Amino acid sequence: MTALLMTFHSWTCASVLALWVFFGDAFEECAECEMSDISLVQKKMQRVAKPQGASGIVDLALGWPAERDIPSQELKAEVDARLAPGEAERGLQYGVGRDLPEALASWLGVPSAELAATNGGCMKTVELLCLDAMAAKRGVLFVEEASFWHLGAFSASCPAEIVRVKSASGGYLDVENFESALRSLDVSKAGPARMLYLVSDFSNPMGGSLPEASRMKVLDLAEEFNLTVLADSVYRLLNYSTPPPKSFIDLNKARPTQARVFELHSFSKFFNAPGISQGWIRAHPALVHEFESGHVQLSNSLVQGVLAKAVADGTVATVHHKVRRAMAHRFQVFSDAMAEQGFPVNKPDGGYFFWVCTDKELNSWEFLLHGFLAQPGSQFAPTDPNMKKCIRICTTRTQNDDHLREGAARLASFFRSKQATVSTGVHPL
Ligand SMILES: Cc1ncc(COP(=O)(O)O)c(C=O)c1O
Repeated sequence: MTALLMTFHSWTCASVLALWVFFGDAFEECAECEMSDISLVQKKMQRVAKPQGASGIVDLALGWPAERDIPSQELKAEVDARLAPGEAERGLQYGVGRDLPEALASWLGVPSAELAATNGGCMKTVELLCLDAMAAKRGVLFVEEASFWHLGAFSASCPAEIVRVKSASGGYLDVENFESALRSLDVSKAGPARMLYLVSDFSNPMGGSLPEASRMKVLDLAEEFNLTVLADSVYRLLNYSTPPPKSFIDLNKARPTQARVFELHSFSKFFNAPGISQGWIRAHPALVHEFESGHVQLSNSLVQGVLAKAVADGTVATVHHKVRRAMAHRFQVFSDAMAEQGFPVNKPDGGYFFWVCTDKELNSWEFLLHGFLAQPGSQFAPTDPNMKKCIRICTTRTQNDDHLREGAARLASFFRSKQATVSTGVHPL
């Protein structure tokens, strides 16, 4: 314990306590450990914490874009142009426009009739579509386990009964489990099956992408059960090696009849700017029409106008290229560092996250003792206790390669202290 506490030599008391408060929820699992242990740790932290050193705590937890890659300069000229006299009246007035879908269609090489801009980012759209689906009557929303944990936050506003479906060994929805969950659903208790939400490409947290054959099966089941499928594709444009499987929308088009599937996109990740809070959907033109005519279409015209221009003049493509290159580099640095430390990990083909599983339960308060933060697996899989043996690692919050390597070294030292064996797959050992 003394050795562990020595690792605190360069941290400020204030930052440790601030993290304790800020990431309070990350310590929830400590309800399972002795409360006296926590206060002991807390007291010792206060005693050993020293003024801010060079390294501080390495944040491998937050799935936010890297601040140094935020495209502020690239957007400044676009915003200025949009606010120039003659333009500003349009940008700041109520507006309904299709400039953004049109620009995106030509950049992405898809028909513009398949695209609609959303009012807000991806999560806002999930909430809206979930409310649409459950408006008539409460029903079941299927999600993967493990899945993007913010879902828990909005499920309070969307009256859905959530059913979690175990994931396959590749880190994506297990379609066989999904089918049996659908077929065995007790409709009298839970209500009818209405919706499936999945992160189909380079998922958060497990990093897998649903294979083409499984996508086809999902489409068949969606049609048979009249389900709406929300394929969260916010990481689809962030691939670093093997491209993701064919899009749900292209596969749907090739079928004789159309399943209700929405592909959800956002400028938050590939463009590194979640503060813009803007996304788009891709779907069959009939669904796009339903989406556009079913909701108030007055848009955030300034943001959409800025982005439409930035897409059309190539700024978005340039930023995308930069973000992708920087992320691919971070992925390489982290996986090399873990291998050098003796813990090779599974490196996903794209997205934001490493999902590292072991043979031991991992508590987030122990991460702090080793000088790093990470998201515990239980955050993403509340009903699967085995997932407490996994953690999600995000590489975007480190300052440079050395800082990231330091994070890997601390993680490895933590694994050594637990005598943990680390899996190269996405399920616990
Ligand atoms: C899978 C997934 N979907 C959506 C989002 C958020 O998207 P937006 O900022 O567009 O709401 C995130 C952010 O972490 C995410 O990981």
